[in-house]
This record gives sequence, structure tokens and C-alpha cells, in this order.
Amino acid sequence: MNVKRALVVGSNGLLGQKVTEFLVRGSAHKVTMCSVEPVPVVHLNSAHYVQVDITSKKDVKKVVHAVEPDVIINCAAMTNVDACEKEREFAWKINTEGVEHLIEAARKNNSKIFHISTDYIFDGKSGPYDETARPEPLSYYGKTKLASENALLLSGLDYFIARTMVLYGTGINVKSNFAIWLIENLEKNLPVKIVDDQFGNPTLVDDLAQGLVNAIELGKSGIYHFAGRDIISRYDFALRLAHVFSFEPSLIIPIKTAQLNQPAPRPMKSGLITLKAEVELGYRPSTTEQGLLILKSQLSRLPKKMPDSAPLPSSGRGPHSKR
Ligand SMILES: NC(=O)c1ccc[n+]([C@@H]2O[C@H](COP(=O)([O-])OP(=O)(O)OC[C@H]3O[C@@H](n4cnc5c(N)ncnc54)[C@H](OP(=O)(O)O)[C@@H]3O)[C@@H](O)[C@H]2O)c1
Repeated sequence: MNVKRALVVGSNGLLGQKVTEFLVRGSAHKVTMCSVEPVPVVHLNSAHYVQVDITSKKDVKKVVHAVEPDVIINCAAMTNVDACEKEREFAWKINTEGVEHLIEAARKNNSKIFHISTDYIFDGKSGPYDETARPEPLSYYGKTKLASENALLLSGLDYFIARTMVLYGTGINVKSNFAIWLIENLEKNLPVKIVDDQFGNPTLVDDLAQGLVNAIELGKSGIYHFAGRDIISRYDFALRLAHVFSFEPSLIIPIKTAQLNQPAPRPMKSGLITLKAEVELGYRPSTTEQGLLILKSQLSRLPKKMPDSAPLPSSGRGPHSKR
């Protein structure tokens, strides 16, 4: 697909930053970044930034009209699962209505939407799941994301939905994710209690971003799963991280999900089958060890005075709650 103009929505987030970086390096001629904050977290000469709140139909219409993107990559979302359970109206506005606004604007401009969804659309009773599995979300977050998928399915537009799970990686001022939170605690020798009864394939954000860029370049449409190579428990992931980063494994204490008393129910036996993306898009998911080694090398190159997980002054940023 000859992409002349790309609009990355939610470009300040973990995935948004990575997708922007890869697009700027790759084939897109012109990349525009937008997110809800007034300023970009990454300043790029080659990518212009516009403040856009996707809950505002007017904002979305204006930016799409001005940029006339061939592709819109929507990385914006309310990703704190427990906050979504409690602040339902807000979650629906961002995760579902925001996508409806993008659809409406894209229709007028004939743009293709690349949207990100989640394994939380499944109930986690019989994972891993392929793209044809029947969604049955347990949490309100999962419901908002499934509704956003359905809005695209019914829109009649050309769309691409990338479902992913447990994203980890680094960026500038990104919210804490599971791997970063583990590192921050274990490097201070603080014990961490990690559930050993939730299974899935944690995903290095770079792998997902590369998969999305491949899909854009190949002009693919439809639903695809992108996740890491290994289906493991959260506890097992933490142990592997401790090994790669040379942390003390006895600091990692196994617990059960029920002990956490989280507001939103979690899919327990989840996981995404990535065969379709591997065959059709050349997707090459990292193993857990490979992904963690990449993360370790990225962290070692970060400027010391710029903590990658320093909070921006907005929503809750808990490691167990973010999806
Ligand atoms: N993280 C995971 O484990 C995971 C797992 C499965 C699927 N996903 C999906 O992957 C996508 C990217 O996730 P991520 O981890 O990169 O999330 P993230 O780091 O939280 O990034 C989301 C970005 O969207 C922005 N945003 C929030 N509300 C907005 C609004 N109204 N208008 C415009 N921008 C808004 C956020 O700004 P603020 O920071 O100011 O809120 C943030 O910069 C999401 O669709 C998510 O549902 C993530």
C-alpha cells in the first residue's frame, strides 16, 4: 500500500510512540502525531503534533480534515482495566465513542483505520484464542473494546484490527507496564506478589508496532492477533525477567488472582494464537527471553535523568491494571 500520509492517534502512549518511530523510519511520507495532552512527549522534526481528544467529534473531524490521512492508526484508549470498571461512562466515551468519531471522519476522507484491541474481549476459559474465536468479555474494559471492534466491522470501511495482550516495553513518560513495574521493584530489592494463575503471551511493544507497519505496507485488512511467542503465567514471566536482569528470584512471591480483589474480572486462561499474522504478515514474535533482552538493552540506553515511567499528570497507572 502506498501510504502518503499517516495519522497516529494516541501517539504519546507506549504503542503510539513506537508506531510513530517505526513509521517515520519506514515508508510513510508524512506522519502526524496526536494525543490528548497539549504537547508531544517525543519531538520529531519529521512528524507534526496536534492535540486531539478523541471524545470530541469536532477535534477528530478537524484533524482528519486537515491531515487527510491515508491511514489512521488508533493507539489511544483508556487502558486501566480497573478504572474502566469504575468509570464506565468515561471508558465508553474514549474506547468506543472515540472510535466512532474516527470512523465518521475516516468515512468522509476515505481513510483506512488501523485499530488496536485486546484479549480482554475473551472470557479466558479456553485460551489461547485465534481470530475466529467467539468474544465474551468479562470486564467493562473488554466490553468497550469489543464494541469498538463491532463499530468498525459494521462501518463498511476498510479496517484492520490488531488484537494484542500484556504489552511491555519502554518509551518516554509512558505509564508503567508489567515489566517496567517489576524492574522498578526488583532493582530496589522489594518483594513483589505475582499471580500464578493468569496465563497469556506477553507482547514486546516493538513486535506489535512492527507487525502493524508490515500490515500497513502490505495493505492488509481484517482481524489479526499479535502477541509474544510464549504462553506463560505472570509469575513465570516475572521469574524469567529476574533471570534476564539478574534480580533475586526469591523476591517474587506467587499468589492467586482472587487475593488481589481487583474490581475488574480477568480472563485467566488467555493467550492469542498469532499464526495468521506470522503467515500473512511475516510477524515474528519474540520469545520472552528475547523480548526482555531487547528491553534491557533499550533501558540501558535511556538518559539517566529521564525515567521512562515518570507519570504524566493524568489517569491511574498501575501495573496490574493496565491493558
Ligand atoms: N497495554 C496493554 O497491555 C494492552 C493490552 C492489550 C491491548 N492494548 C491496547 O493497545 C492500545 C495501546 O495501548 P498502550 O499500552 O500504548 O496505552 P497507553 O500507553 O495508555 O497509551 C494510550 C494513549 O492514548 C491517550 N489517550 C487517552 N485518552 C485519550 C483521548 N480521549 N484522546 C486522545 N488520546 C487519548 C493516552 O493519554 P493519557 O496517558 O494522558 O491517558 C495515551 O497517551 C490500546 O488500544 C489498548 O487498549 C494494550
